[in-house]
Amino acid sequence: MSRTPSPDVLVIGGGIIGLVTAWRTAQRGLRVAVADPEPGGGAAQVAAGMLAAVTELHYGEQTLLGLNLESAHRYPAFVAELEETSGRRVGYRSCGTLAVALDADDRAHLRELHALQHRSGLTSEWLTGRECRRLEPMLAPGVRGGLRVDGDHQVDPRRLAAALIAACERAGVEFRRGWAERLLVTGDRATGAVLADGAELSAGQVVLAGGSMSGRLEGVPQDVLPPVRPVKGQVLRLTVPRPYAPFLSRTVRAVVRGSEVYLVPREDGELVVGATSEELGWDTTVTAGGVYELLRDAHELVPGITELPLVETRAGLRPGSPDNAPLLGFTELPGLLLATGHYRNGVLLTPVTGDVLADALTTGELPDVARPFSPRRFSSVLQEQPA
Ligand code: GLY
Repeated sequence: MSRTPSPDVLVIGGGIIGLVTAWRTAQRGLRVAVADPEPGGGAAQVAAGMLAAVTELHYGEQTLLGLNLESAHRYPAFVAELEETSGRRVGYRSCGTLAVALDADDRAHLRELHALQHRSGLTSEWLTGRECRRLEPMLAPGVRGGLRVDGDHQVDPRRLAAALIAACERAGVEFRRGWAERLLVTGDRATGAVLADGAELSAGQVVLAGGSMSGRLEGVPQDVLPPVRPVKGQVLRLTVPRPYAPFLSRTVRAVVRGSEVYLVPREDGELVVGATSEELGWDTTVTAGGVYELLRDAHELVPGITELPLVETRAGLRPGSPDNAPLLGFTELPGLLLATGHYRNGVLLTPVTGDVLADALTTGELPDVARPFSPRRFSSVLQEQPA
């Protein structure tokens, strides 16, 4: 078994969460390695990239809202620094979002959301159907009303991942192209990992940032293993040919017969349509039913969509957690930290996650903003689970 020089920090998982953790930590002067067979190749390749703290507000997620808003607030400066450092654009658009209602039930649902947003101190504006169509002329004539949220923006997750890889490389992060097979534990401390090629990589601290795979790493004690599960999302990509542009000028979304659908228009003409939400374990099959439902619902919202070329269909796995919020920071196993369980908000939470993990790794303290998201909130639940 070969031995290699030890980094201060080993990040297991090179999705956008692992990459931002590595970049921010390397900026603080620590030596960082990332283990992943294909950095940036996971959920970032599927996600639409909505930064939807306000339009994706749900009852019971007030604490998560605080973290989401904090990360949204950090986004512009984060993007400016990342683009400057990496020399790459990440497709950040402060174009706003319009959530619309197609029937009386949708309208009642949106009214509830509007009231919840208002009670939470958030800014959104109720529009009539006519006002919605004035903003977005491609909307179906039957739209009954909507919520205009100028503060919910978007970024292109594929470009974000590419920029983070470039920024990591510039900051001296070492990439180990393979899975971490097993966590190394020496005494009562995490001390590194065994990599896919059999190499043992020792590290002062280990961050498990494996997205939906985070709950599967061998060698992690049962009571420390994160309670993260895969939640499948199917997503379509279309293009808007020049004569149709601009097809939509902002993200448009709705709940159609209980299913969420959103259309995210990029500046380069890509139109992302998402997403299903399916509890099917590790299955990432794109199904006829999934594509049909997305196109059916998107067509009800924006009938002209059927004219556009469909260029890609793909499924990815969101890392779901029991309370839909991420697990950030120290575990009960010294030397092992988590940055996982971001569920529907991984892209939105990228800036704050990088800052929080870099703080924790360099100071030994979890910053206040992340305290409610400590993995330790699940420890007692885990210990009660049958073996
Ligand atoms: N945040 C969008 C999704 O998870 O589908």
